Amino acid sequence: MKLHTMANNKHIEEIIRAISEKNTSAITVYNLLSDAVRKTALASLSANNLKSLTGLLKNVKKKTLTEANKRFLKIAAVTINTPVYLLDEILIEENMRILRYVKDRTGCKIFHALKSYATFATFPIMAKYLDGVCASGLNEARLGREEFKKEVHTFGAAYRESEIKQILKYSDSIIFNSFHQLEKYGNMARKNSVEIGLRVNPGYAEVSTEMYNPCAPNSRLGIIHDIFIREFLRNRDMIDGLHFHALCEQNSDVLKRVLASFEKLYGRYIKGLRWVNFGGGHHITRDDYDLELLIKLINTFKNKYGVQVYLEPGEASVLDAGVLISSVLDIVKNKMKITIMDTSAETHMPDVLLMPYRPNVMKSGQPGQKKYTYRLAGPSCLAGDIIGDYSFNKPLNIGDKLVFTDMALYSIVKNTTFNGIYLPDIAVIRNDGKIETVRRFGYGDYRNRQS
Ligand SMILES: Cc1ncc(COP(=O)(O)O)c(C=O)c1O
Repeated sequence: MKLHTMANNKHIEEIIRAISEKNTSAITVYNLLSDAVRKTALASLSANNLKSLTGLLKNVKKKTLTEANKRFLKIAAVTINTPVYLLDEILIEENMRILRYVKDRTGCKIFHALKSYATFATFPIMAKYLDGVCASGLNEARLGREEFKKEVHTFGAAYRESEIKQILKYSDSIIFNSFHQLEKYGNMARKNSVEIGLRVNPGYAEVSTEMYNPCAPNSRLGIIHDIFIREFLRNRDMIDGLHFHALCEQNSDVLKRVLASFEKLYGRYIKGLRWVNFGGGHHITRDDYDLELLIKLINTFKNKYGVQVYLEPGEASVLDAGVLISSVLDIVKNKMKITIMDTSAETHMPDVLLMPYRPNVMKSGQPGQKKYTYRLAGPSCLAGDIIGDYSFNKPLNIGDKLVFTDMALYSIVKNTTFNGIYLPDIAVIRNDGKIETVRRFGYGDYRNRQS
């Protein structure tokens, strides 16, 4: 016992020394400690040292990402079947460590949102760090229970009668989007010992794209305040927690403002509940994300209301952690040169068209910035199947491979076989550096969806 304590103290001293030397070995040591010792270590650090530790954690991710990006380019340069979503387990683990650090500093629970990424080949590494998943309905709840094997928290805008029994079987909590749904299914949830939450509209968001704004005018997502105050008290005994989701790829300063609105509208109803779920959209693992502010917001909230705080980020789990590698099939000419790729914005990266946004391509610049400019386009019949315009130092040739970055999230889960286009392979760079193709799709995958 004594030896144990001495060893732990040694580790904590090592962390403090490394922090004072601005050495990232502080993070290496921290990450190797057990749950309990990590918490003891954090409790023994001054506020300044904690801030420095956060900075070092970010530096480690930056370094890992730089190395991974070189690795992606190297793999693309040698033989890899394209198109392929290539996921990097080392990068996913780096994101997981940042999420766990938030848990360590706050005691909150973090659930990965399956809607953003559900490649279960990498779930074992994610499940080592997170508390479970959040699901949007039966299929995700089942995948979460069977493959992630930890907690499952389900929110659906409305549940079908034919599915509710199964959803309850796979879920630890179920979140209702209306009092009507609560009245319909609440008792069944109680009988199955599934906790119950209500999704509310926090009345404030800063999402400029309406398509992604859960608080847009006449939004169907989340009970509005007027209805909540009319119905809540008579249903109070049925409710364990409240849920809001109003962020999209945002920093903690936006969370601060959303929380202020949420508290103003619903704060007086929180005491006595078990948890409040702050939803997703927190870009926690992004380089410029203000982790210290997030930590402060969660701790203040928790202490004020005495509830457990849940977060359910999706993007943050796999941000930067995968690429889509694609080959040039042909180059056609109009007023400019246009490559026909073996990948498609429409089918393989639909958010490029929906959001819309211009994905980053490694070793490329803005049009005209480098000597040779091309429009990168997909092979489908859709005129607008255009990824974007890019420039390169060298002319592109048929067979060249291009690497589209940050393609793990909202890509594999959303892709389609429109035009009968083949789905990209899914491959994982494992922790030991080996590449494993975990899935290759074929004619059967297209055919089975048509019947
Ligand atoms: C209810 C809910 N939770 C969590 C998420 C995950 O958000 P993100 O992947 O942006 O973190 C979403 C995304 O739409 C959501 O609707």
